[in-house]
Parts: sequence; structure tokens; C-alpha cells
Amino acid sequence: MKTLTIIKPDDWHLHLREGLVLKNIIHFTSEFFGRAVVMPNTKTPITSIERARYYKKSIVEALPESSKFEPLMTIYLTDDTDKEELINGFKNNIFFAAKLYPANATTNSSYGVKKIENLYKIFESMQDNGMPLLIHGEVTDSEVDVFDREEVFIDKELSQITKRFPKLKIVLEHITTSYAVDFVQENNIGATITPHHLHINRNAMFFGGLNSDFYCLPVAKRENNRLSLRRAATSGKKCFFLGTDSAPHLRKWKAFCGCAGIFNSPVAIESYLTVFEEEDALDNFEKFASLNGPNFYNISPNLEKLKLVSRPNKVKEFIDVVEDENIVGQIKPFHAGEILRWQVEGIVN
Ligand code: NCD
Ligand code: ZN
Repeated sequence: MKTLTIIKPDDWHLHLREGLVLKNIIHFTSEFFGRAVVMPNTKTPITSIERARYYKKSIVEALPESSKFEPLMTIYLTDDTDKEELINGFKNNIFFAAKLYPANATTNSSYGVKKIENLYKIFESMQDNGMPLLIHGEVTDSEVDVFDREEVFIDKELSQITKRFPKLKIVLEHITTSYAVDFVQENNIGATITPHHLHINRNAMFFGGLNSDFYCLPVAKRENNRLSLRRAATSGKKCFFLGTDSAPHLRKWKAFCGCAGIFNSPVAIESYLTVFEEEDALDNFEKFASLNGPNFYNISPNLEKLKLVSRPNKVKEFIDVVEDENIVGQIKPFHAGEILRWQVEGIVN
């Protein structure tokens, strides 16, 4: 039986939601990840120090007893973001980073930024203070084809930002194209890569009828892009790191509106590992999962270790959302019903 022991990983892009869903899903991340960057696109977005404090408290309260997991909070940038509040929150360790959603680019992003140039003053302060900027990199103009939105964003917006703010610490989140892979490497920025974009291409959404289980934003692209993402993630290069973009949606909501988001946290590590094994790059997994992120953010890697074992691992069809011991909803995990080749054994010291 093959085994692998790595430094405990972190998840650099995660949606934890609130309330009952938060309480039911957080253990999937807190058990095996040291830290996670928590996205601020809650129903009422996290736009202030007060909201971030309150949200963090609810996350910590939802953690299993004696968990050492650390949520890293982000602020949701809007057209009205207050520079003082932003920088104060960063200096006082309330915000780990700021998240830029172009208005209406994705789930719960209607408060997002309408004109990115209006934030340039804010970017300048972030650059001066070393505050990271995390970007959902898609334009939202209805004339731009949904499959081209990442590339157009890079050309129209991101290339301007990197030119004007060469020292700003930028992460292009959940990249989906070989165009983004190249841009990240050439422009000295970071990028997170999700498990699902390493496994599926855009065909997945159209097999057996329209299938929103594989619909997320940015949407999966053509096969050549998936292959390029696999090469990038498994390369060990410092600019690419783990960010699941795990985004739970209750089954009934997926069925009702086909909302964007794939819930992968119950199988994220195993899902990535399958890819690294297929690419003959298991030796680089620790870099991607546990070292490159801390290196990018100038923080220490976790101290604990995680042991992984190669054995058949059947993924559940559904994850139940439970309230007072009653099942009140279900969420479909990525790889539902599949048998993966790896399993997390647990934390070792
Ligand atoms: C995310 C969500 O559901 O919050 N959805 C998604 O498709 N990835 C939002 C996001 O990161 O775009
Ligand atoms: Zn996301």
C-alpha cells in the first residue's frame, strides 16, 4: 500500500456559508486543513470589520471541539469600500486579504465592483501596506462569451492592474485557462487551482442532459485548458497553490436555479492526489498543497503532518444537512458515487 506524508495543507479559497450549512460542512475542511481563506460572499457580504468579526466568531463556534483550524477572513470590495476600514482591518489582523468580485460575476456578487478603476486608490494603499488582493477574474459584459470571460478580464483589467501596481500581491483565483497559466507566470502573481478544473472540461455539463452539478464559475473550459492547468498545478512552481473553491449549494437550490458552485471539500485532498498520481508528480503534491501558499503569503507552513494512503475510497452520493438530528437538506459532493484511489488517513505528529 502506497502512503504519503506531507505537511498539513491549507485551502487558499473556500466558501463556508453561514448557519446550518456552515455547521454541517466545516468539519470537512477543519479536520485536515490548517487554515483556509474564507470567501466573503455570504448573503449579506462581509464588507466591514464588524461583519468579519461576527462571521469569524460564527465559524469558530461551528468548529468541532479542540479544533486548531484557523479561518483567514477576507473583505468584499465594493464601490463604496472605505480605505481606512480596509487598511485598519488588515493591520489589526482582522482581514487577511481583500476579494474583488466584478459585479454579478458569480454567486452572491451583486454588491461587487462596477468599475474597477474606481478602486485604484484602494489598490495603491493595499500595495503600500502589503495587503493581498484576491481576484475573481471574469468580465461580466453580456456581449462577451461566457467561455472567454477570463481571458478578456486578463486583457482588459488584470494587465492594467499588474502594470500600475507591480508590487501589489495579487492572486488570480480558480484559474481555468492556459492563458491564465501563462499570465500568472509571466507577471509574478499567484493563482489558486481547484480540483474540479483539473478533472473536468466543459463537456461535463452537457452529458445526460444539462447537468448543473458540474457548473461553477469560472466555468470549465476546453480540454486543452484542463491539461494546461494539470501541468501547472503538478509542476511544483511556487506561483500555483491549492484553493478548492468548494462552494456548497443545497440540492433543492441546484435543482431549482442551477446555481454555480461545486462542493468538493469532502474529497478535495483525494481529488487533487488522484491528479498528481496520474501526472506522475506525487513528489510535488506537498509544494502545491502545503508550501507554495504560505511562501506566497510570507507565513509559516503548518507544523502538523497529514498521512495519505492509496486505497479505494468510495465517495458518498450526498452529504446530509442535519438539524436536531433530522435531515433537512442534501448537498452533492464532487466525485459523488465514484471510487477514488486515495484516502486521508489522518494527522500525524
Ligand atoms: C462560488 C459560490 O457559490 O459562492 N461559486 C462558484 O461557482 N465558484 C462563487 C465563486 O467563487 O465564484
Ligand atoms: Zn469561490
